[in-house]
Amino acid sequence: MGIPVNEKVSVSTGDAPEKKPKTRFRSFQLGIWEVVLPVSPGWDLGLVTLPTASELLDYLSIYGLLFRLFGDIYALAPRQFVLFTIFEFAQSFEGSINLYLNSQILDAISSHLKGEAVVRSLIVRSLASRVLLALMLGWLRKNCERDNQVLKDRVKFFFMEKSMHTLLTLDPTTAEDPDVKSKMGNASFQYDNEVWSSFEAIIRMATALLKSFSQIALAFALIRQHASAPVFFALCVLQPLLGIFGYDELWGKTHIIFCINKAYERLAALHGFAYSDRYRVDRLSDGVAEFIEREFKKSREELGDVSTEDANREWSNRQSFVVGSFYGLMNDFPMIYFALRILFSPKGITFSSLAISQEAASSIQWTIYMLTYDSKSLARQLSSVKNVYARFEIQNKMKDGVLTYPRVLDESVKESTGMELEFRNVSFKYPGTTKPVLEDLSFKIKPGQMVVIVGVNGSGKSSTIKLFNRLYDPTEGEILVDGLPLTAYKLKDVRRAMAILRQDHDSYPLSLRLNVALGAPEREMPSDEEIQEALKAGGADTFVEKLPKKADTVLDPVKLSSVYFEGEALEEMNTMVEEREKITDVSGGESQRLAAARVFMRLNSGGIRFLAADEPTSALDPEGEFALFSRLRQERGGKTVVFITHRFGHLTKYADLILVMKDGRLVESGNHIELVEKDGEYKRLHDVQAQAFLPTTDS
Ligand SMILES: Nc1ncnc2c1ncn2[C@@H]1O[C@H](COP(=O)(O)OP(=O)(O)O)[C@@H](O)[C@H]1O
Ligand SMILES: [Mg+2]
Repeated sequence: MGIPVNEKVSVSTGDAPEKKPKTRFRSFQLGIWEVVLPVSPGWDLGLVTLPTASELLDYLSIYGLLFRLFGDIYALAPRQFVLFTIFEFAQSFEGSINLYLNSQILDAISSHLKGEAVVRSLIVRSLASRVLLALMLGWLRKNCERDNQVLKDRVKFFFMEKSMHTLLTLDPTTAEDPDVKSKMGNASFQYDNEVWSSFEAIIRMATALLKSFSQIALAFALIRQHASAPVFFALCVLQPLLGIFGYDELWGKTHIIFCINKAYERLAALHGFAYSDRYRVDRLSDGVAEFIEREFKKSREELGDVSTEDANREWSNRQSFVVGSFYGLMNDFPMIYFALRILFSPKGITFSSLAISQEAASSIQWTIYMLTYDSKSLARQLSSVKNVYARFEIQNKMKDGVLTYPRVLDESVKESTGMELEFRNVSFKYPGTTKPVLEDLSFKIKPGQMVVIVGVNGSGKSSTIKLFNRLYDPTEGEILVDGLPLTAYKLKDVRRAMAILRQDHDSYPLSLRLNVALGAPEREMPSDEEIQEALKAGGADTFVEKLPKKADTVLDPVKLSSVYFEGEALEEMNTMVEEREKITDVSGGESQRLAAARVFMRLNSGGIRFLAADEPTSALDPEGEFALFSRLRQERGGKTVVFITHRFGHLTKYADLILVMKDGRLVESGNHIELVEKDGEYKRLHDVQAQAFLPTTDS
């Protein structure tokens, strides 16, 4: 609980509606505001919250984490790591050494002022030492810079690589998990170095502690002869402690601010209406000016002299003036203390002991402030490190199989080059949803067959395709591949044997060359000819040829340059950036051709036994579509093929099997002639699309 410094403030604990029983809230009314703060389980002292027992245990577990972190960083760059830590720690003694040298100089000065003889060599030595120390540290700092940079970047890329590995292998179901999502955090290529900032913060805290301790020790040694030294130190600590207990700011606390004054809300709305350009014409044509002004005046009167100061200010205003006054006075505590001592017993006071004490006191104050204030941010940093490490332990929810595919041991499978695929009573819901999108689906596709799936939008065609290569597993039922459960095979193997042109495929933010090459990821970079061939097969060669950088054009490049400052040159500078980082936009159709080229690259990479194309042509003109499907049919060899298209007239005639879907169910199946005769859903769809001359677009 915060210490209510102002009696007039109404503290209503537990008044807030308790929707989540886990958190308790307290609320304060401040002027026109209501401030709602969560009540922390620990002991809230204003600036700091003392940890609860469970939090303490958490801190303990963090020690293990620190060992791991320091170990990892050491392994990345042993020399740089050692240099960095030594330098940081060495720096923490700079303050106390300077303090000592200063005390020598001050002693000499005060002796001189008292008219005593001064040891000149002492002054020279102390001054020279100070200069030397400054130069030495400056030189060290300069020379460590490069090493620090190396260390920092190694840490950055090490953790970046590990995070990327996790990201690249997450299955969709796992990736949607809120816990996994929060662990993955957000990525900024340029500035993502959370582990390093945490490491730095930890070191900074440790060195600040060391710095204070060494200064305190020195100051203590200097004024040890006074009996009242301990009292003096206790008083030095008083000020920051007082700050922790008494200095209470809203800023930095978790809170919500609500406006609870109706008149103020009305004033804000009227003000917004008057200022907005959007309503100018309406305001004029309706002639509302006078009405608005009148209402504003009325609301203003209603508001009266209630303070409309912002809530942060109001919060600070609650503070008693006594605390504020003492706070200022305490800064000069050492001086006041010495002055009072002179009043009562003027013996043993030296000029230097005053100066040293003053400096030590402010150092202690700073450290205590940092420890209390930064401990929150340190806890945050540590939990972010914890998150990063937890990231590497994320397990995919989808269980991998153990069998290799294809089962070369099985003679009957060895003969054919197509995959056999069977759905047995398959039902499916997307994770986190309740509506089944596929219900009780059963069909069998024989090796080498060509299958066309038809159905209106939303009938579940694309969802069916997603189950083929285990992007998702069925919620019920079973999928068999070559007679064995799909889940029994190694995921990598079955996926490798399939070439799937999905409906919501995308072109990648990489070079066009890589866009195509990724069709055959097991291979080394394909040759220019192979890329060209695939581009041609996908119908993408003509548009790529027209680009200035051809296949080396990078789509949607990551923007790394930036322009700062305004001025005459700004426009020219912006133009320079635009020229260097020209963004190449490809149209929907071009993007589809590119994706098709990637599939052709895959088809020719060997080992493919199954090809599926899910409306790859919705953005293509009918000619382009016809050409693409013809090429896919030609190049399929003995592979099993599943096509989904809206304009299926020219395809279904060749199909061995047509699956007709409606509302997630298989309503008809057979070949073209059979289904036309049946005069059902297929016949209806066929007639509709035969009439529609214009290409349909689908999302
Ligand atoms: N990722 C998803 N999460 C939840 N629902 C989805 C998702 N993708 C598709 N759906 C829903 O599944 C149903 C079938 O969609 P889809 O398989 O894309 O049909 P089609 O390809 O036949 O148009 C639709 O109702 C759609 O809204
Ligand atoms: Mg679809």
